[in-house]
Amino acid sequence: MIRAIVDPPWDFSAWRAQARMALRGGIEPASIDWQDPQHLSLLDGLALNAIPARIDAPRVPRAFLPLAARVLAHREPQRHALLYRLLWRMTHSEPHLLTHVTDRDVHRARELEKAVRRDAHKMKAFVRFRAVPGEDNAYVAWFEPVNNIVDLVAPFFMRRFAGMRWAILTPDRSVSWDLQTLSFGHGALQSDAPGDDAQESLWRTYYANIFNPARTNPRMMRQEMPQKYWKNLPEAQLLPDLLRNAGHRVRDMAERVPQPPRRRIPLPPLPAPDPADDSLAALKAAARECRRCLLWEPATQTVFGEGPQDARVMIVGEQPGDEEDLSGRPFVGPAGKLFNGALAELGIDRAQIYITNAVKHFKFERRGKFRLHRNPEPSERAACRIWLERELATVRPHIVVCMGATASEAVFGKGFRLLQERGVWRTLVDGTRAFATVHPAWVLRQRDATQRDAAYRNLVDDLRLLVSGTAED
Ligand code: URA
Repeated sequence: MIRAIVDPPWDFSAWRAQARMALRGGIEPASIDWQDPQHLSLLDGLALNAIPARIDAPRVPRAFLPLAARVLAHREPQRHALLYRLLWRMTHSEPHLLTHVTDRDVHRARELEKAVRRDAHKMKAFVRFRAVPGEDNAYVAWFEPVNNIVDLVAPFFMRRFAGMRWAILTPDRSVSWDLQTLSFGHGALQSDAPGDDAQESLWRTYYANIFNPARTNPRMMRQEMPQKYWKNLPEAQLLPDLLRNAGHRVRDMAERVPQPPRRRIPLPPLPAPDPADDSLAALKAAARECRRCLLWEPATQTVFGEGPQDARVMIVGEQPGDEEDLSGRPFVGPAGKLFNGALAELGIDRAQIYITNAVKHFKFERRGKFRLHRNPEPSERAACRIWLERELATVRPHIVVCMGATASEAVFGKGFRLLQERGVWRTLVDGTRAFATVHPAWVLRQRDATQRDAAYRNLVDDLRLLVSGTAED
């Protein structure tokens, strides 16, 4: 027998390296003993890397790779052998094997893949972060997945919570995000994660309020939220009582005299919360609670500016988009990527500049599963102005760049004509130098590639003023 060891056993590259050596050595599936690195057999076999290569590695059908990555995440001890058998058969005589859904090996691989997908879905739905006491914007979650799915699911959390520092601990593996890098580490204990926090009691109150007894189907609910996850879900503590009382709450609802629906009266705007001190961090924390207009309600969060407090350049955009709303950071979506490209072309380091928006909440309209950008109303822009003014007063940039008409009006006032006055230096009342250019999203909206290219070149040319402007500074 020939020994193959995949270490760590869920890792796709580790398995692929072994499988490739075996294929190139012409080793048949039945001759390989796939050993668990934690329980190595005492009966020594020949290691795979001692086998000389006899043939070039054959091409592998594309669809096999994502399937293999998921199957490897399953705890099934036979998965390495199963995948190698599939690989051998596909590269020898059955290139279309994966389309034979009734084949025993294919069927088993699909079953394992399905279980891993289900497990990953549960992890996405049931991870609950808890604030780390005494730290700003740091969260830890404890989760017990059935399989080794942490590496597979981590990129989802990175995208979804890009603006938070977080860690997810599981018994076998942990992953953390520090706003820049995902790092993986060993497993942990539940006691390593913080206990119940204030946000959880808020969440429980909210959950109890939105729980609709008339729509409750306990069987479906247990299927979607299996009981084994309940112990780590704050809202699950409420479920036994909510389910027990659902029956008579529905009867009460049915017996109540119908009332006409109440007209929704918008809450009056509230004054802006005061920052605790004059730092940028305190300003950002205060803006998180802003209720000066109604945009905060459907939005996920306030997207405040980011960058150094002593930045010499401040960029002002219009309002966050879908990705910015989810991640909590400005200019990280498609317009942000185009803008990053322009900065890189000019040799400007984004980390040195302060980037913000005239309006700090995403305004959108729902269309099915999409959220379409809507322009903020003058009243919403006016309500949000106070935050831009405070950012300007705190950062005190030497140069301000307005991208698009909304930002230009917020800085230069109403009546500013962007297309005539773009790329021209102006001086604000406090002596700060400023100019306007088009918004990167406008560049992306150009109809064809030639127009888009020309619009992009003009944006880069306008931004080039920054290079000469900061040199003179
Ligand atoms: N458009 C903006 O104006 N700001 C962002 O943050 C993203 C897109």
